[in-house]
Parts: sequence; C-alpha cells; structure tokens
Amino acid sequence: MVTVRSIRAKAGSEPITMLTAYDAPTAGVVDEAGIDIVLVGDSMGNTALGYDSTLPVTVEDVASRTAAVARATDDALVVADMPFLSVGVDEASSVEHCGRMLKEADADAVKLECGPHTVELTERLVRLGVPVMAHLGLTPQRVKEVGYGRQGTDRDDAQEILDLAKAHAEAGAFSLVLEHVPANLAKQVTEAIDIPTIGIGAGPDCDGQVLVVDDVVGMSDRTPPFATQFGDVKSEMEKAVGAYRDAVEAGEFPADEHSHVEDDLDELY
Ligand code: KIV
Repeated sequence: MVTVRSIRAKAGSEPITMLTAYDAPTAGVVDEAGIDIVLVGDSMGNTALGYDSTLPVTVEDVASRTAAVARATDDALVVADMPFLSVGVDEASSVEHCGRMLKEADADAVKLECGPHTVELTERLVRLGVPVMAHLGLTPQRVKEVGYGRQGTDRDDAQEILDLAKAHAEAGAFSLVLEHVPANLAKQVTEAIDIPTIGIGAGPDCDGQVLVVDDVVGMSDRTPPFATQFGDVKSEMEKAVGAYRDAVEAGEFPADEHSHVEDDLDELY
C-alpha cells in the first residue's frame, strides 16, 4: 500500500506516478494500473462538473468525490484537493475543511494551492496529523490574477517559487506539485528540497509526474500544451452510444435474451 512515508522515500530514487480521478470506476482503473497517487483534483470543475474554471468547486463537491474515489481504491494514496477559498480565510475553518477530507471522505492527505499564506497552515495541519501536499507555480485558483500562463519565468518569480518550496518543505509538506514552470526552475527546486516534487508541465527532472486523467484517456475537448493523450476513450464512447441508439431505433434491442415473460400474466384486466 502506498503511504505518505513511501512517497517521501521515493524522492530521488523511483519515479512517482499520479493521476486525477473524480469517480469510483475511474479510480478503480487508476488504482489497478498501479499508479501511486490518485488526486481528487479541483480540476473536476473543468472536467466532471462542466464549469469554465475550478473556482465554483465546493468543499462538498470534493468531499463526495473523494469518498467515491477512496471506496474504489485499495493501494494508491488518495489526495483531496482543497477548493478555492476553503483554506486561507481563517485558521479554524481551514483546519475544519481539511480535516473533513480525512474524517468523512477517507482521504489520506490534502493538497493546497500554496502561497505565503499557507506556510503556517501547513505546519499546523501536519502537527494535527493531516498530511499536506503543496502546489506551486501555476495555481489555477488564481486564474483571475495570473491567468493560465507559465509561471516563474523571470528571476524574481522563480526565486519566490524556490523560497516558497523550501518554506513548505520545512513546514512539513510531504510532497510538492510544480505546475507549468520552466524545467530548469523545477530541477533547481527538486535539488533544493528533500521532499519529492511532482511535475505537470515542469520538465523531466521532477521526482514524479501528474496529469489530469481526462487528458490522458482522451475525454477532454481542450488539453494543455504540456499534456499528452495516451488513448481515445471519447471516440469509443461515441461508437457505443451510437450503436445503442441505432439498435433501439431498429427494434433490435432489447432482444429475446434481454426480456423475461412470466407465466400466467396474459389477459390481465
Ligand atoms: O486539480 C488538479 O487536477 C491539479 C493537478 C493538475 C495537479 O491540481
């Protein structure tokens, strides 16, 4: 079974694999495939829930999806992604929202989109027994402020990301997601901290990689430039749904083998 400790121990040795999932059947596939970490990402806003961004996602959305994912996961570490404004407003509500993910939804850890405001919170959560995965670089919950572009592209921004990475590692985070940053910055961050980095659009030198499962299996209408589609589930679904429609319209489904006739039910009145 994958644990927070086993993930930490992989830093600098074996590559860590992480994928998102937002429902039980997908989590089952991801877990069976031997992926180390299932992230119940707030990217569910753009994927499963059909919003334009992650901002409308609620604590309830993440908690119910995390519970479904946890029920279908035997081995992988389940990480619940804390949605916009669920942390950072004040300490008590931040701790309560993160705690709910472990107490009610059976998550193993939470992920926080980080900034200077999450260093103390990380320390507090870890002291209380809530493992924290930090997330720096492009943090999509700040879309209104920074958009979706690459982050850390000038020296000041890159230095800030490096400093925040060190601060969160010192505060006790067990791993760090680095999203859409230059590969040479991700390499320096990875070398500077003793917890594993997990990259998405951050080059090959992180300790692990994460992608959104919809992008990987070919269910997304738009994929970010750093993602690769490894399959085409959408066209398989389109074929199956079209075949079902055709069979019903042609009177071919249901066939005799799908129907049951009960004796003594004729001529009811
Ligand atoms: O919400 C999410 O899926 C994420 C990953 C892209 C890291 O934060």
